Parts: sequence; C-alpha cells; structure tokens
Amino acid sequence: MHHNPISITQLSHSYPDGTEALRQINLSIRATERVALVGANGSGKSTLLLHLNGILLPQTGEVVIGELSVAAANLVAVRNFVGLVFQNPDDQIFMPTVWEDISFGPMNQGLSQEAVLHRVHHAMLAVGLDYETYAARIASNLSGGEKKRVAIAGVLAMQPQVLALDEPSAQLDPRSRRQLIQLLHQLPLTQVIATHDLDLALELCSRTIVLSHGQIVFDGSTEVVMNDRAFLEKHALEMPLSYARPYCELQHQCELQHQAVQNRIAGQYYR
Ligand SMILES: Nc1ncnc2c1ncn2[C@@H]1O[C@H](COP(=O)(O)OP(=O)(O)OP(=O)(O)O)[C@@H](O)[C@H]1O
Ligand SMILES: [Mg+2]
Repeated sequence: MHHNPISITQLSHSYPDGTEALRQINLSIRATERVALVGANGSGKSTLLLHLNGILLPQTGEVVIGELSVAAANLVAVRNFVGLVFQNPDDQIFMPTVWEDISFGPMNQGLSQEAVLHRVHHAMLAVGLDYETYAARIASNLSGGEKKRVAIAGVLAMQPQVLALDEPSAQLDPRSRRQLIQLLHQLPLTQVIATHDLDLALELCSRTIVLSHGQIVFDGSTEVVMNDRAFLEKHALEMPLSYARPYCELQHQCELQHQAVQNRIAGQYYR
C-alpha cells in the first residue's frame, strides 16, 4: 500500500479546440482516503479523472499514481492500479454481453478461468446484478442504470487499488444508489468520486475538492463546504438536500423537541 497513491502537481489541460479544462491542479490523496470531486458542469471533473488512468496524459505537470508516473510507458500498470468508471457507461462497455464485458479486464490480467469466474460473480453481486438474469444479456440493450452497474462491476472485477468514479449515482434508482453508497463505504480502496450528488459526497467523503473553471477553489472538510451556502452558490452548487430541505430542518427541530420531552419524562421517572 502506498502512502500517497495519488499525487498531482501543476497539472493543466487544454483540449485541441483551445478550451482550458484544467489549470494548475495540485493535490495529493492518501491511501484509502475517499474524496469527493464536485463542481458545476464543465468545471473539469471528468477531465481530471481521465488523467488518473492515463486516458489523457499530462500536457504540463505530473500525475503520479502509487510510484508510477502516468506516461505512455506505464499505461498497463497504471490501468491495473486505477479503475476508472466513466461518466457515460456507453463509453466503457464495449463487449457484446454482460459476462464478456465484466470478464474482459480480469482475463487480460492473465487469471485462470476459475479466478475470472469468481471475480465476475463477486463483482456482479457487489453491484446487485443477479448473475443468472444478467450474465448473458446483450449489454447495449440494458437500461441506463443497469449499464452503469455493469460498468462499475467491470472495474471492480479488476480489483484496482484506486477507484475513480465519474458520476456513479447518476441514473441509479434510489435503492441502487443506496446499495452503491453502502458498497463504496465498505470498499477499503482509495476512491475519487466526481459527483453532482452532494448528499452522496456528504455520506461517503470526509474530504471534498471543489473545481471551478478548471481550478481547485476548495480542498478540505466536506461538512464545512456543504454548510457554506454562499460559497456553494458562488460556484453554481447547491446545499445537499439533507441540509437544505425545509422539512428536514423542521424534522430536526421536531426531533430536538421530542428529545427534550423524552428527557423530561425520563427525568421525572428516574430522578
Ligand atoms: N473533447 C473535448 N473537446 C473540447 N472541449 C472539451 C472536451 N471535453 C471536455 N471539454 C471541455 O472541457 C471543460 C471541462 O469538461 P469536463 O467534462 O471535464 O467537465 P465536468 O466537470 O466533468 O462537467 P459535467 O459536470 O458536465 O460532467 C468543459 O468546458 C468542456 O466543454
Ligand atoms: Mg463530467
């Protein structure tokens, strides 16, 4: 286990049309840390994640994963180290059937057939895809949420040390989203989660990085930033629903009142 599995220094990226997507990014992520990457549409989250497993190579600056610099010569090792779940599962799933797609990575890692089968079973179980129902399905016919789960399973099956997830909860129904949160919570891996789901960020990540126009404008406590309504609005974000919904505040007040009454009752009985 590496002390700092991700270390990025002075990373900038411009797309061929001149769009400056990342500007002088510096960050370091420790082993088994879970970090949320948030920011408005177009702020650079996906561009940053694409650098973590070398789909994009640094134009300026450096990305180091474990002890490997992300460069053309290290791509195979980097991709075994970092599993990236794309924002759009159609960019990820490229084999005809669910089984072929999820088994592709572990097969390429040179595992025995039995080990591959075990990995695929396990990964499908982890994302809540029933093996009997889904293994032989044609992947392109699946619903958006089912595809997202196949994409996540394909990455889990490779057993990477770092998991980079781009909008993992988008398209998932509430129960699947809840299962995903539980799964990510249990996985003892370094995780970088780009998300518009600020409630998910709040539940899973004690640290949040906020991107705005390709720059890091905040890197610190998730609770602190999610409570800063003015800062979030400045960067086109809104408070998590669990903080902002009026009836949640009301419920919180009711709970406090209920607790006060309970305490009084307990006081009468136990004094
Ligand atoms: N292939 C590309 N060619 C040109 N510009 C691009 C390309 N991909 C992304 N961009 C631009 O780079 C910037 C950052 O895009 P990116 O996809 O990283 O943002 P994001 O934070 O992931 O947004 P979203 O929340 O919509 O997923 C945007 O201005 C976007 O228009
Ligand atoms: Mg994106």
